[in-house]
Amino acid sequence: MCGIVGYIGERCAAPILINGLKKLEYRGYDSAGVAVFDNGALKVVKCKGRLKCLEEKVANETLEGKVGIGHTRWATHGEPNDVNSHPHISNSGKIAVVHNGIIENYIKLKEFLQSKGYNFESDTDTEVVAHLVDYNYKGDLKEAVMSTISELEGSYALGVICSDCPDMFLAARKDSPLIVGLGRGENFIASDIPAILEHTRDIYILEDKEIAVLDKDNVKVFNIYGTEVKKEVFHVNWDVAAAEKSGYKHFMMKEMCEEPKVLKDTISPRIKDGKIVLDSINIEPEYLENINRIHIVACGTAYHAGVVGKYLIEKLARIPVEVDVASEFRYRDPLLSDKDLVIIISQSGETIDTLFALRESKRKGARVLSIVNVVGSSIARESDEVLYTWAGPEIAVASTKAYNTQLAVLYLIACDFAKKRGTIDDEQLERIIEQLKEMPSVVDKVLQNKEAIQKFSSEHYNAKSIFFIGRGLDYALSMEGSLKLKEISYIHSEAYAGGELKHGTIALIEKGTLVVCPMTQDDLLEKMISNIREVKARGAVVLAITQEKNKEVEKVADVVIKIPDVDPLVAPIAAITSMQLFAYYMAVQKGCDVDKPRNLAKSVTVE
Ligand code: G6P
Repeated sequence: MCGIVGYIGERCAAPILINGLKKLEYRGYDSAGVAVFDNGALKVVKCKGRLKCLEEKVANETLEGKVGIGHTRWATHGEPNDVNSHPHISNSGKIAVVHNGIIENYIKLKEFLQSKGYNFESDTDTEVVAHLVDYNYKGDLKEAVMSTISELEGSYALGVICSDCPDMFLAARKDSPLIVGLGRGENFIASDIPAILEHTRDIYILEDKEIAVLDKDNVKVFNIYGTEVKKEVFHVNWDVAAAEKSGYKHFMMKEMCEEPKVLKDTISPRIKDGKIVLDSINIEPEYLENINRIHIVACGTAYHAGVVGKYLIEKLARIPVEVDVASEFRYRDPLLSDKDLVIIISQSGETIDTLFALRESKRKGARVLSIVNVVGSSIARESDEVLYTWAGPEIAVASTKAYNTQLAVLYLIACDFAKKRGTIDDEQLERIIEQLKEMPSVVDKVLQNKEAIQKFSSEHYNAKSIFFIGRGLDYALSMEGSLKLKEISYIHSEAYAGGELKHGTIALIEKGTLVVCPMTQDDLLEKMISNIREVKARGAVVLAITQEKNKEVEKVADVVIKIPDVDPLVAPIAAITSMQLFAYYMAVQKGCDVDKPRNLAKSVTVE
């Protein structure tokens, strides 16, 4: 969601800004723009559409300035059009601003500024920031930005340039991500690391309400009271290739193919001498003995990982678990105490509803353990304890490898808690550990079977509506399989518990309706076979996903995608890869923009 890049140095800013924005395309956007300080004035070029349109527009201008800010906008206030695109410029032409987030009190501020004679051109909330900085500007840009942010309610990551100050620019943030890149003779700001990785690996992570003042040789960071803050340099250790397609047609395919490796990276360091060792957290047996409840809170794909987590923790550690979508949890006044553990799951570590759910949990005294992919992200920093998923950068909007690693961490947590509570015997624990260690090679085998899935997709990509049904862990998987499909192929899809089908949804099954059935749970296999017979009797075409050993499934389903014979408990890690591949090939066959699906954003930093 909205990407920000800023540059100051010796090089021409515009191409650096546009290249940086390209690296943030995954966040989702519908318009883009840059403002560059050029020959004594601020020049703004912006337009609706893809960065290619912006590039063409910029090519027709002479933009030679060495200071600038750029933005990709994901529309919230006002439709995607040229005028609503960022940067926004003050009436005086002095101040240009890019913004990610939502200014919640913008109407009040707009009325105030209008009463002072400011004219508004756009429908955005952001334009008030440009005019407010202008209004507060009395010759000191830092003071003006500080006064401005003290008046803003809501969330923001901001880049601000001023035509009076050609040798500097400012950045500030609250609840929306922003980093500062530290170069030699040049400095940067960006919403995320990939935007600046080709220039520097040293960054500052800005905290809420911090303001960074950048010139080409120095970066100073101040708190809201204007006191300088000493920042630690964070060194990014992943390489540029991790954020590139490396020969794959789509990031999504590259990321699915990385699943064996990232599963190994996530699982192996946490298994030592056959035992699970979660040494980055310190959840004591006594705490788990007296625990009241676990709440798993997340959004989207991470929420679906949480649903699997509930099954696992309840089954193995015998602790009651509730799973909530963060946007509901944070507003429903959840019952929490210091005996509740809240597990927050987030790939980006920046999803705003999830971040606020975390803060609400801490405010109520609960302990917060997070499962996060992006090191140093807001959720990771604000949690009491963190377990990282070592999935590396995930660029495709549709989450794949991050989900598999979130599952892996949830297995480790469930086993660790079960061991500490004495609810699992050594033999069972050893068996699960052995199976977890096998998962990278199991998923590799699932990936090798991709042609079968591709073939099936090439025959069914015209489907108008697809149902996913499953029982137990397979129901949790169905939810994620269905989400993946609708996100990238735009095919209507719903996930249902197999046993719930008869209570309404079966009315929608008719001749040719496609039904996808993950069937990895031995004890529920017969029940699922009955469900398949029910939908087939009404004309459905059934694609089943099951372990090789389950020969009886072949007798009822139209097509069976086989996964290796793994224990039902760990099967979700492998089965989901088939479903991700299915969504991918359906979308590719339909000619969809797989990595950047319409209307979606990778990192949802507004409510
Ligand atoms: C967006 C993304 C999803 C993701 C969800 C939660 O909707 O498109 O892929 O699952 O946000 O994101 P998080 O970064 O918190 O896991």
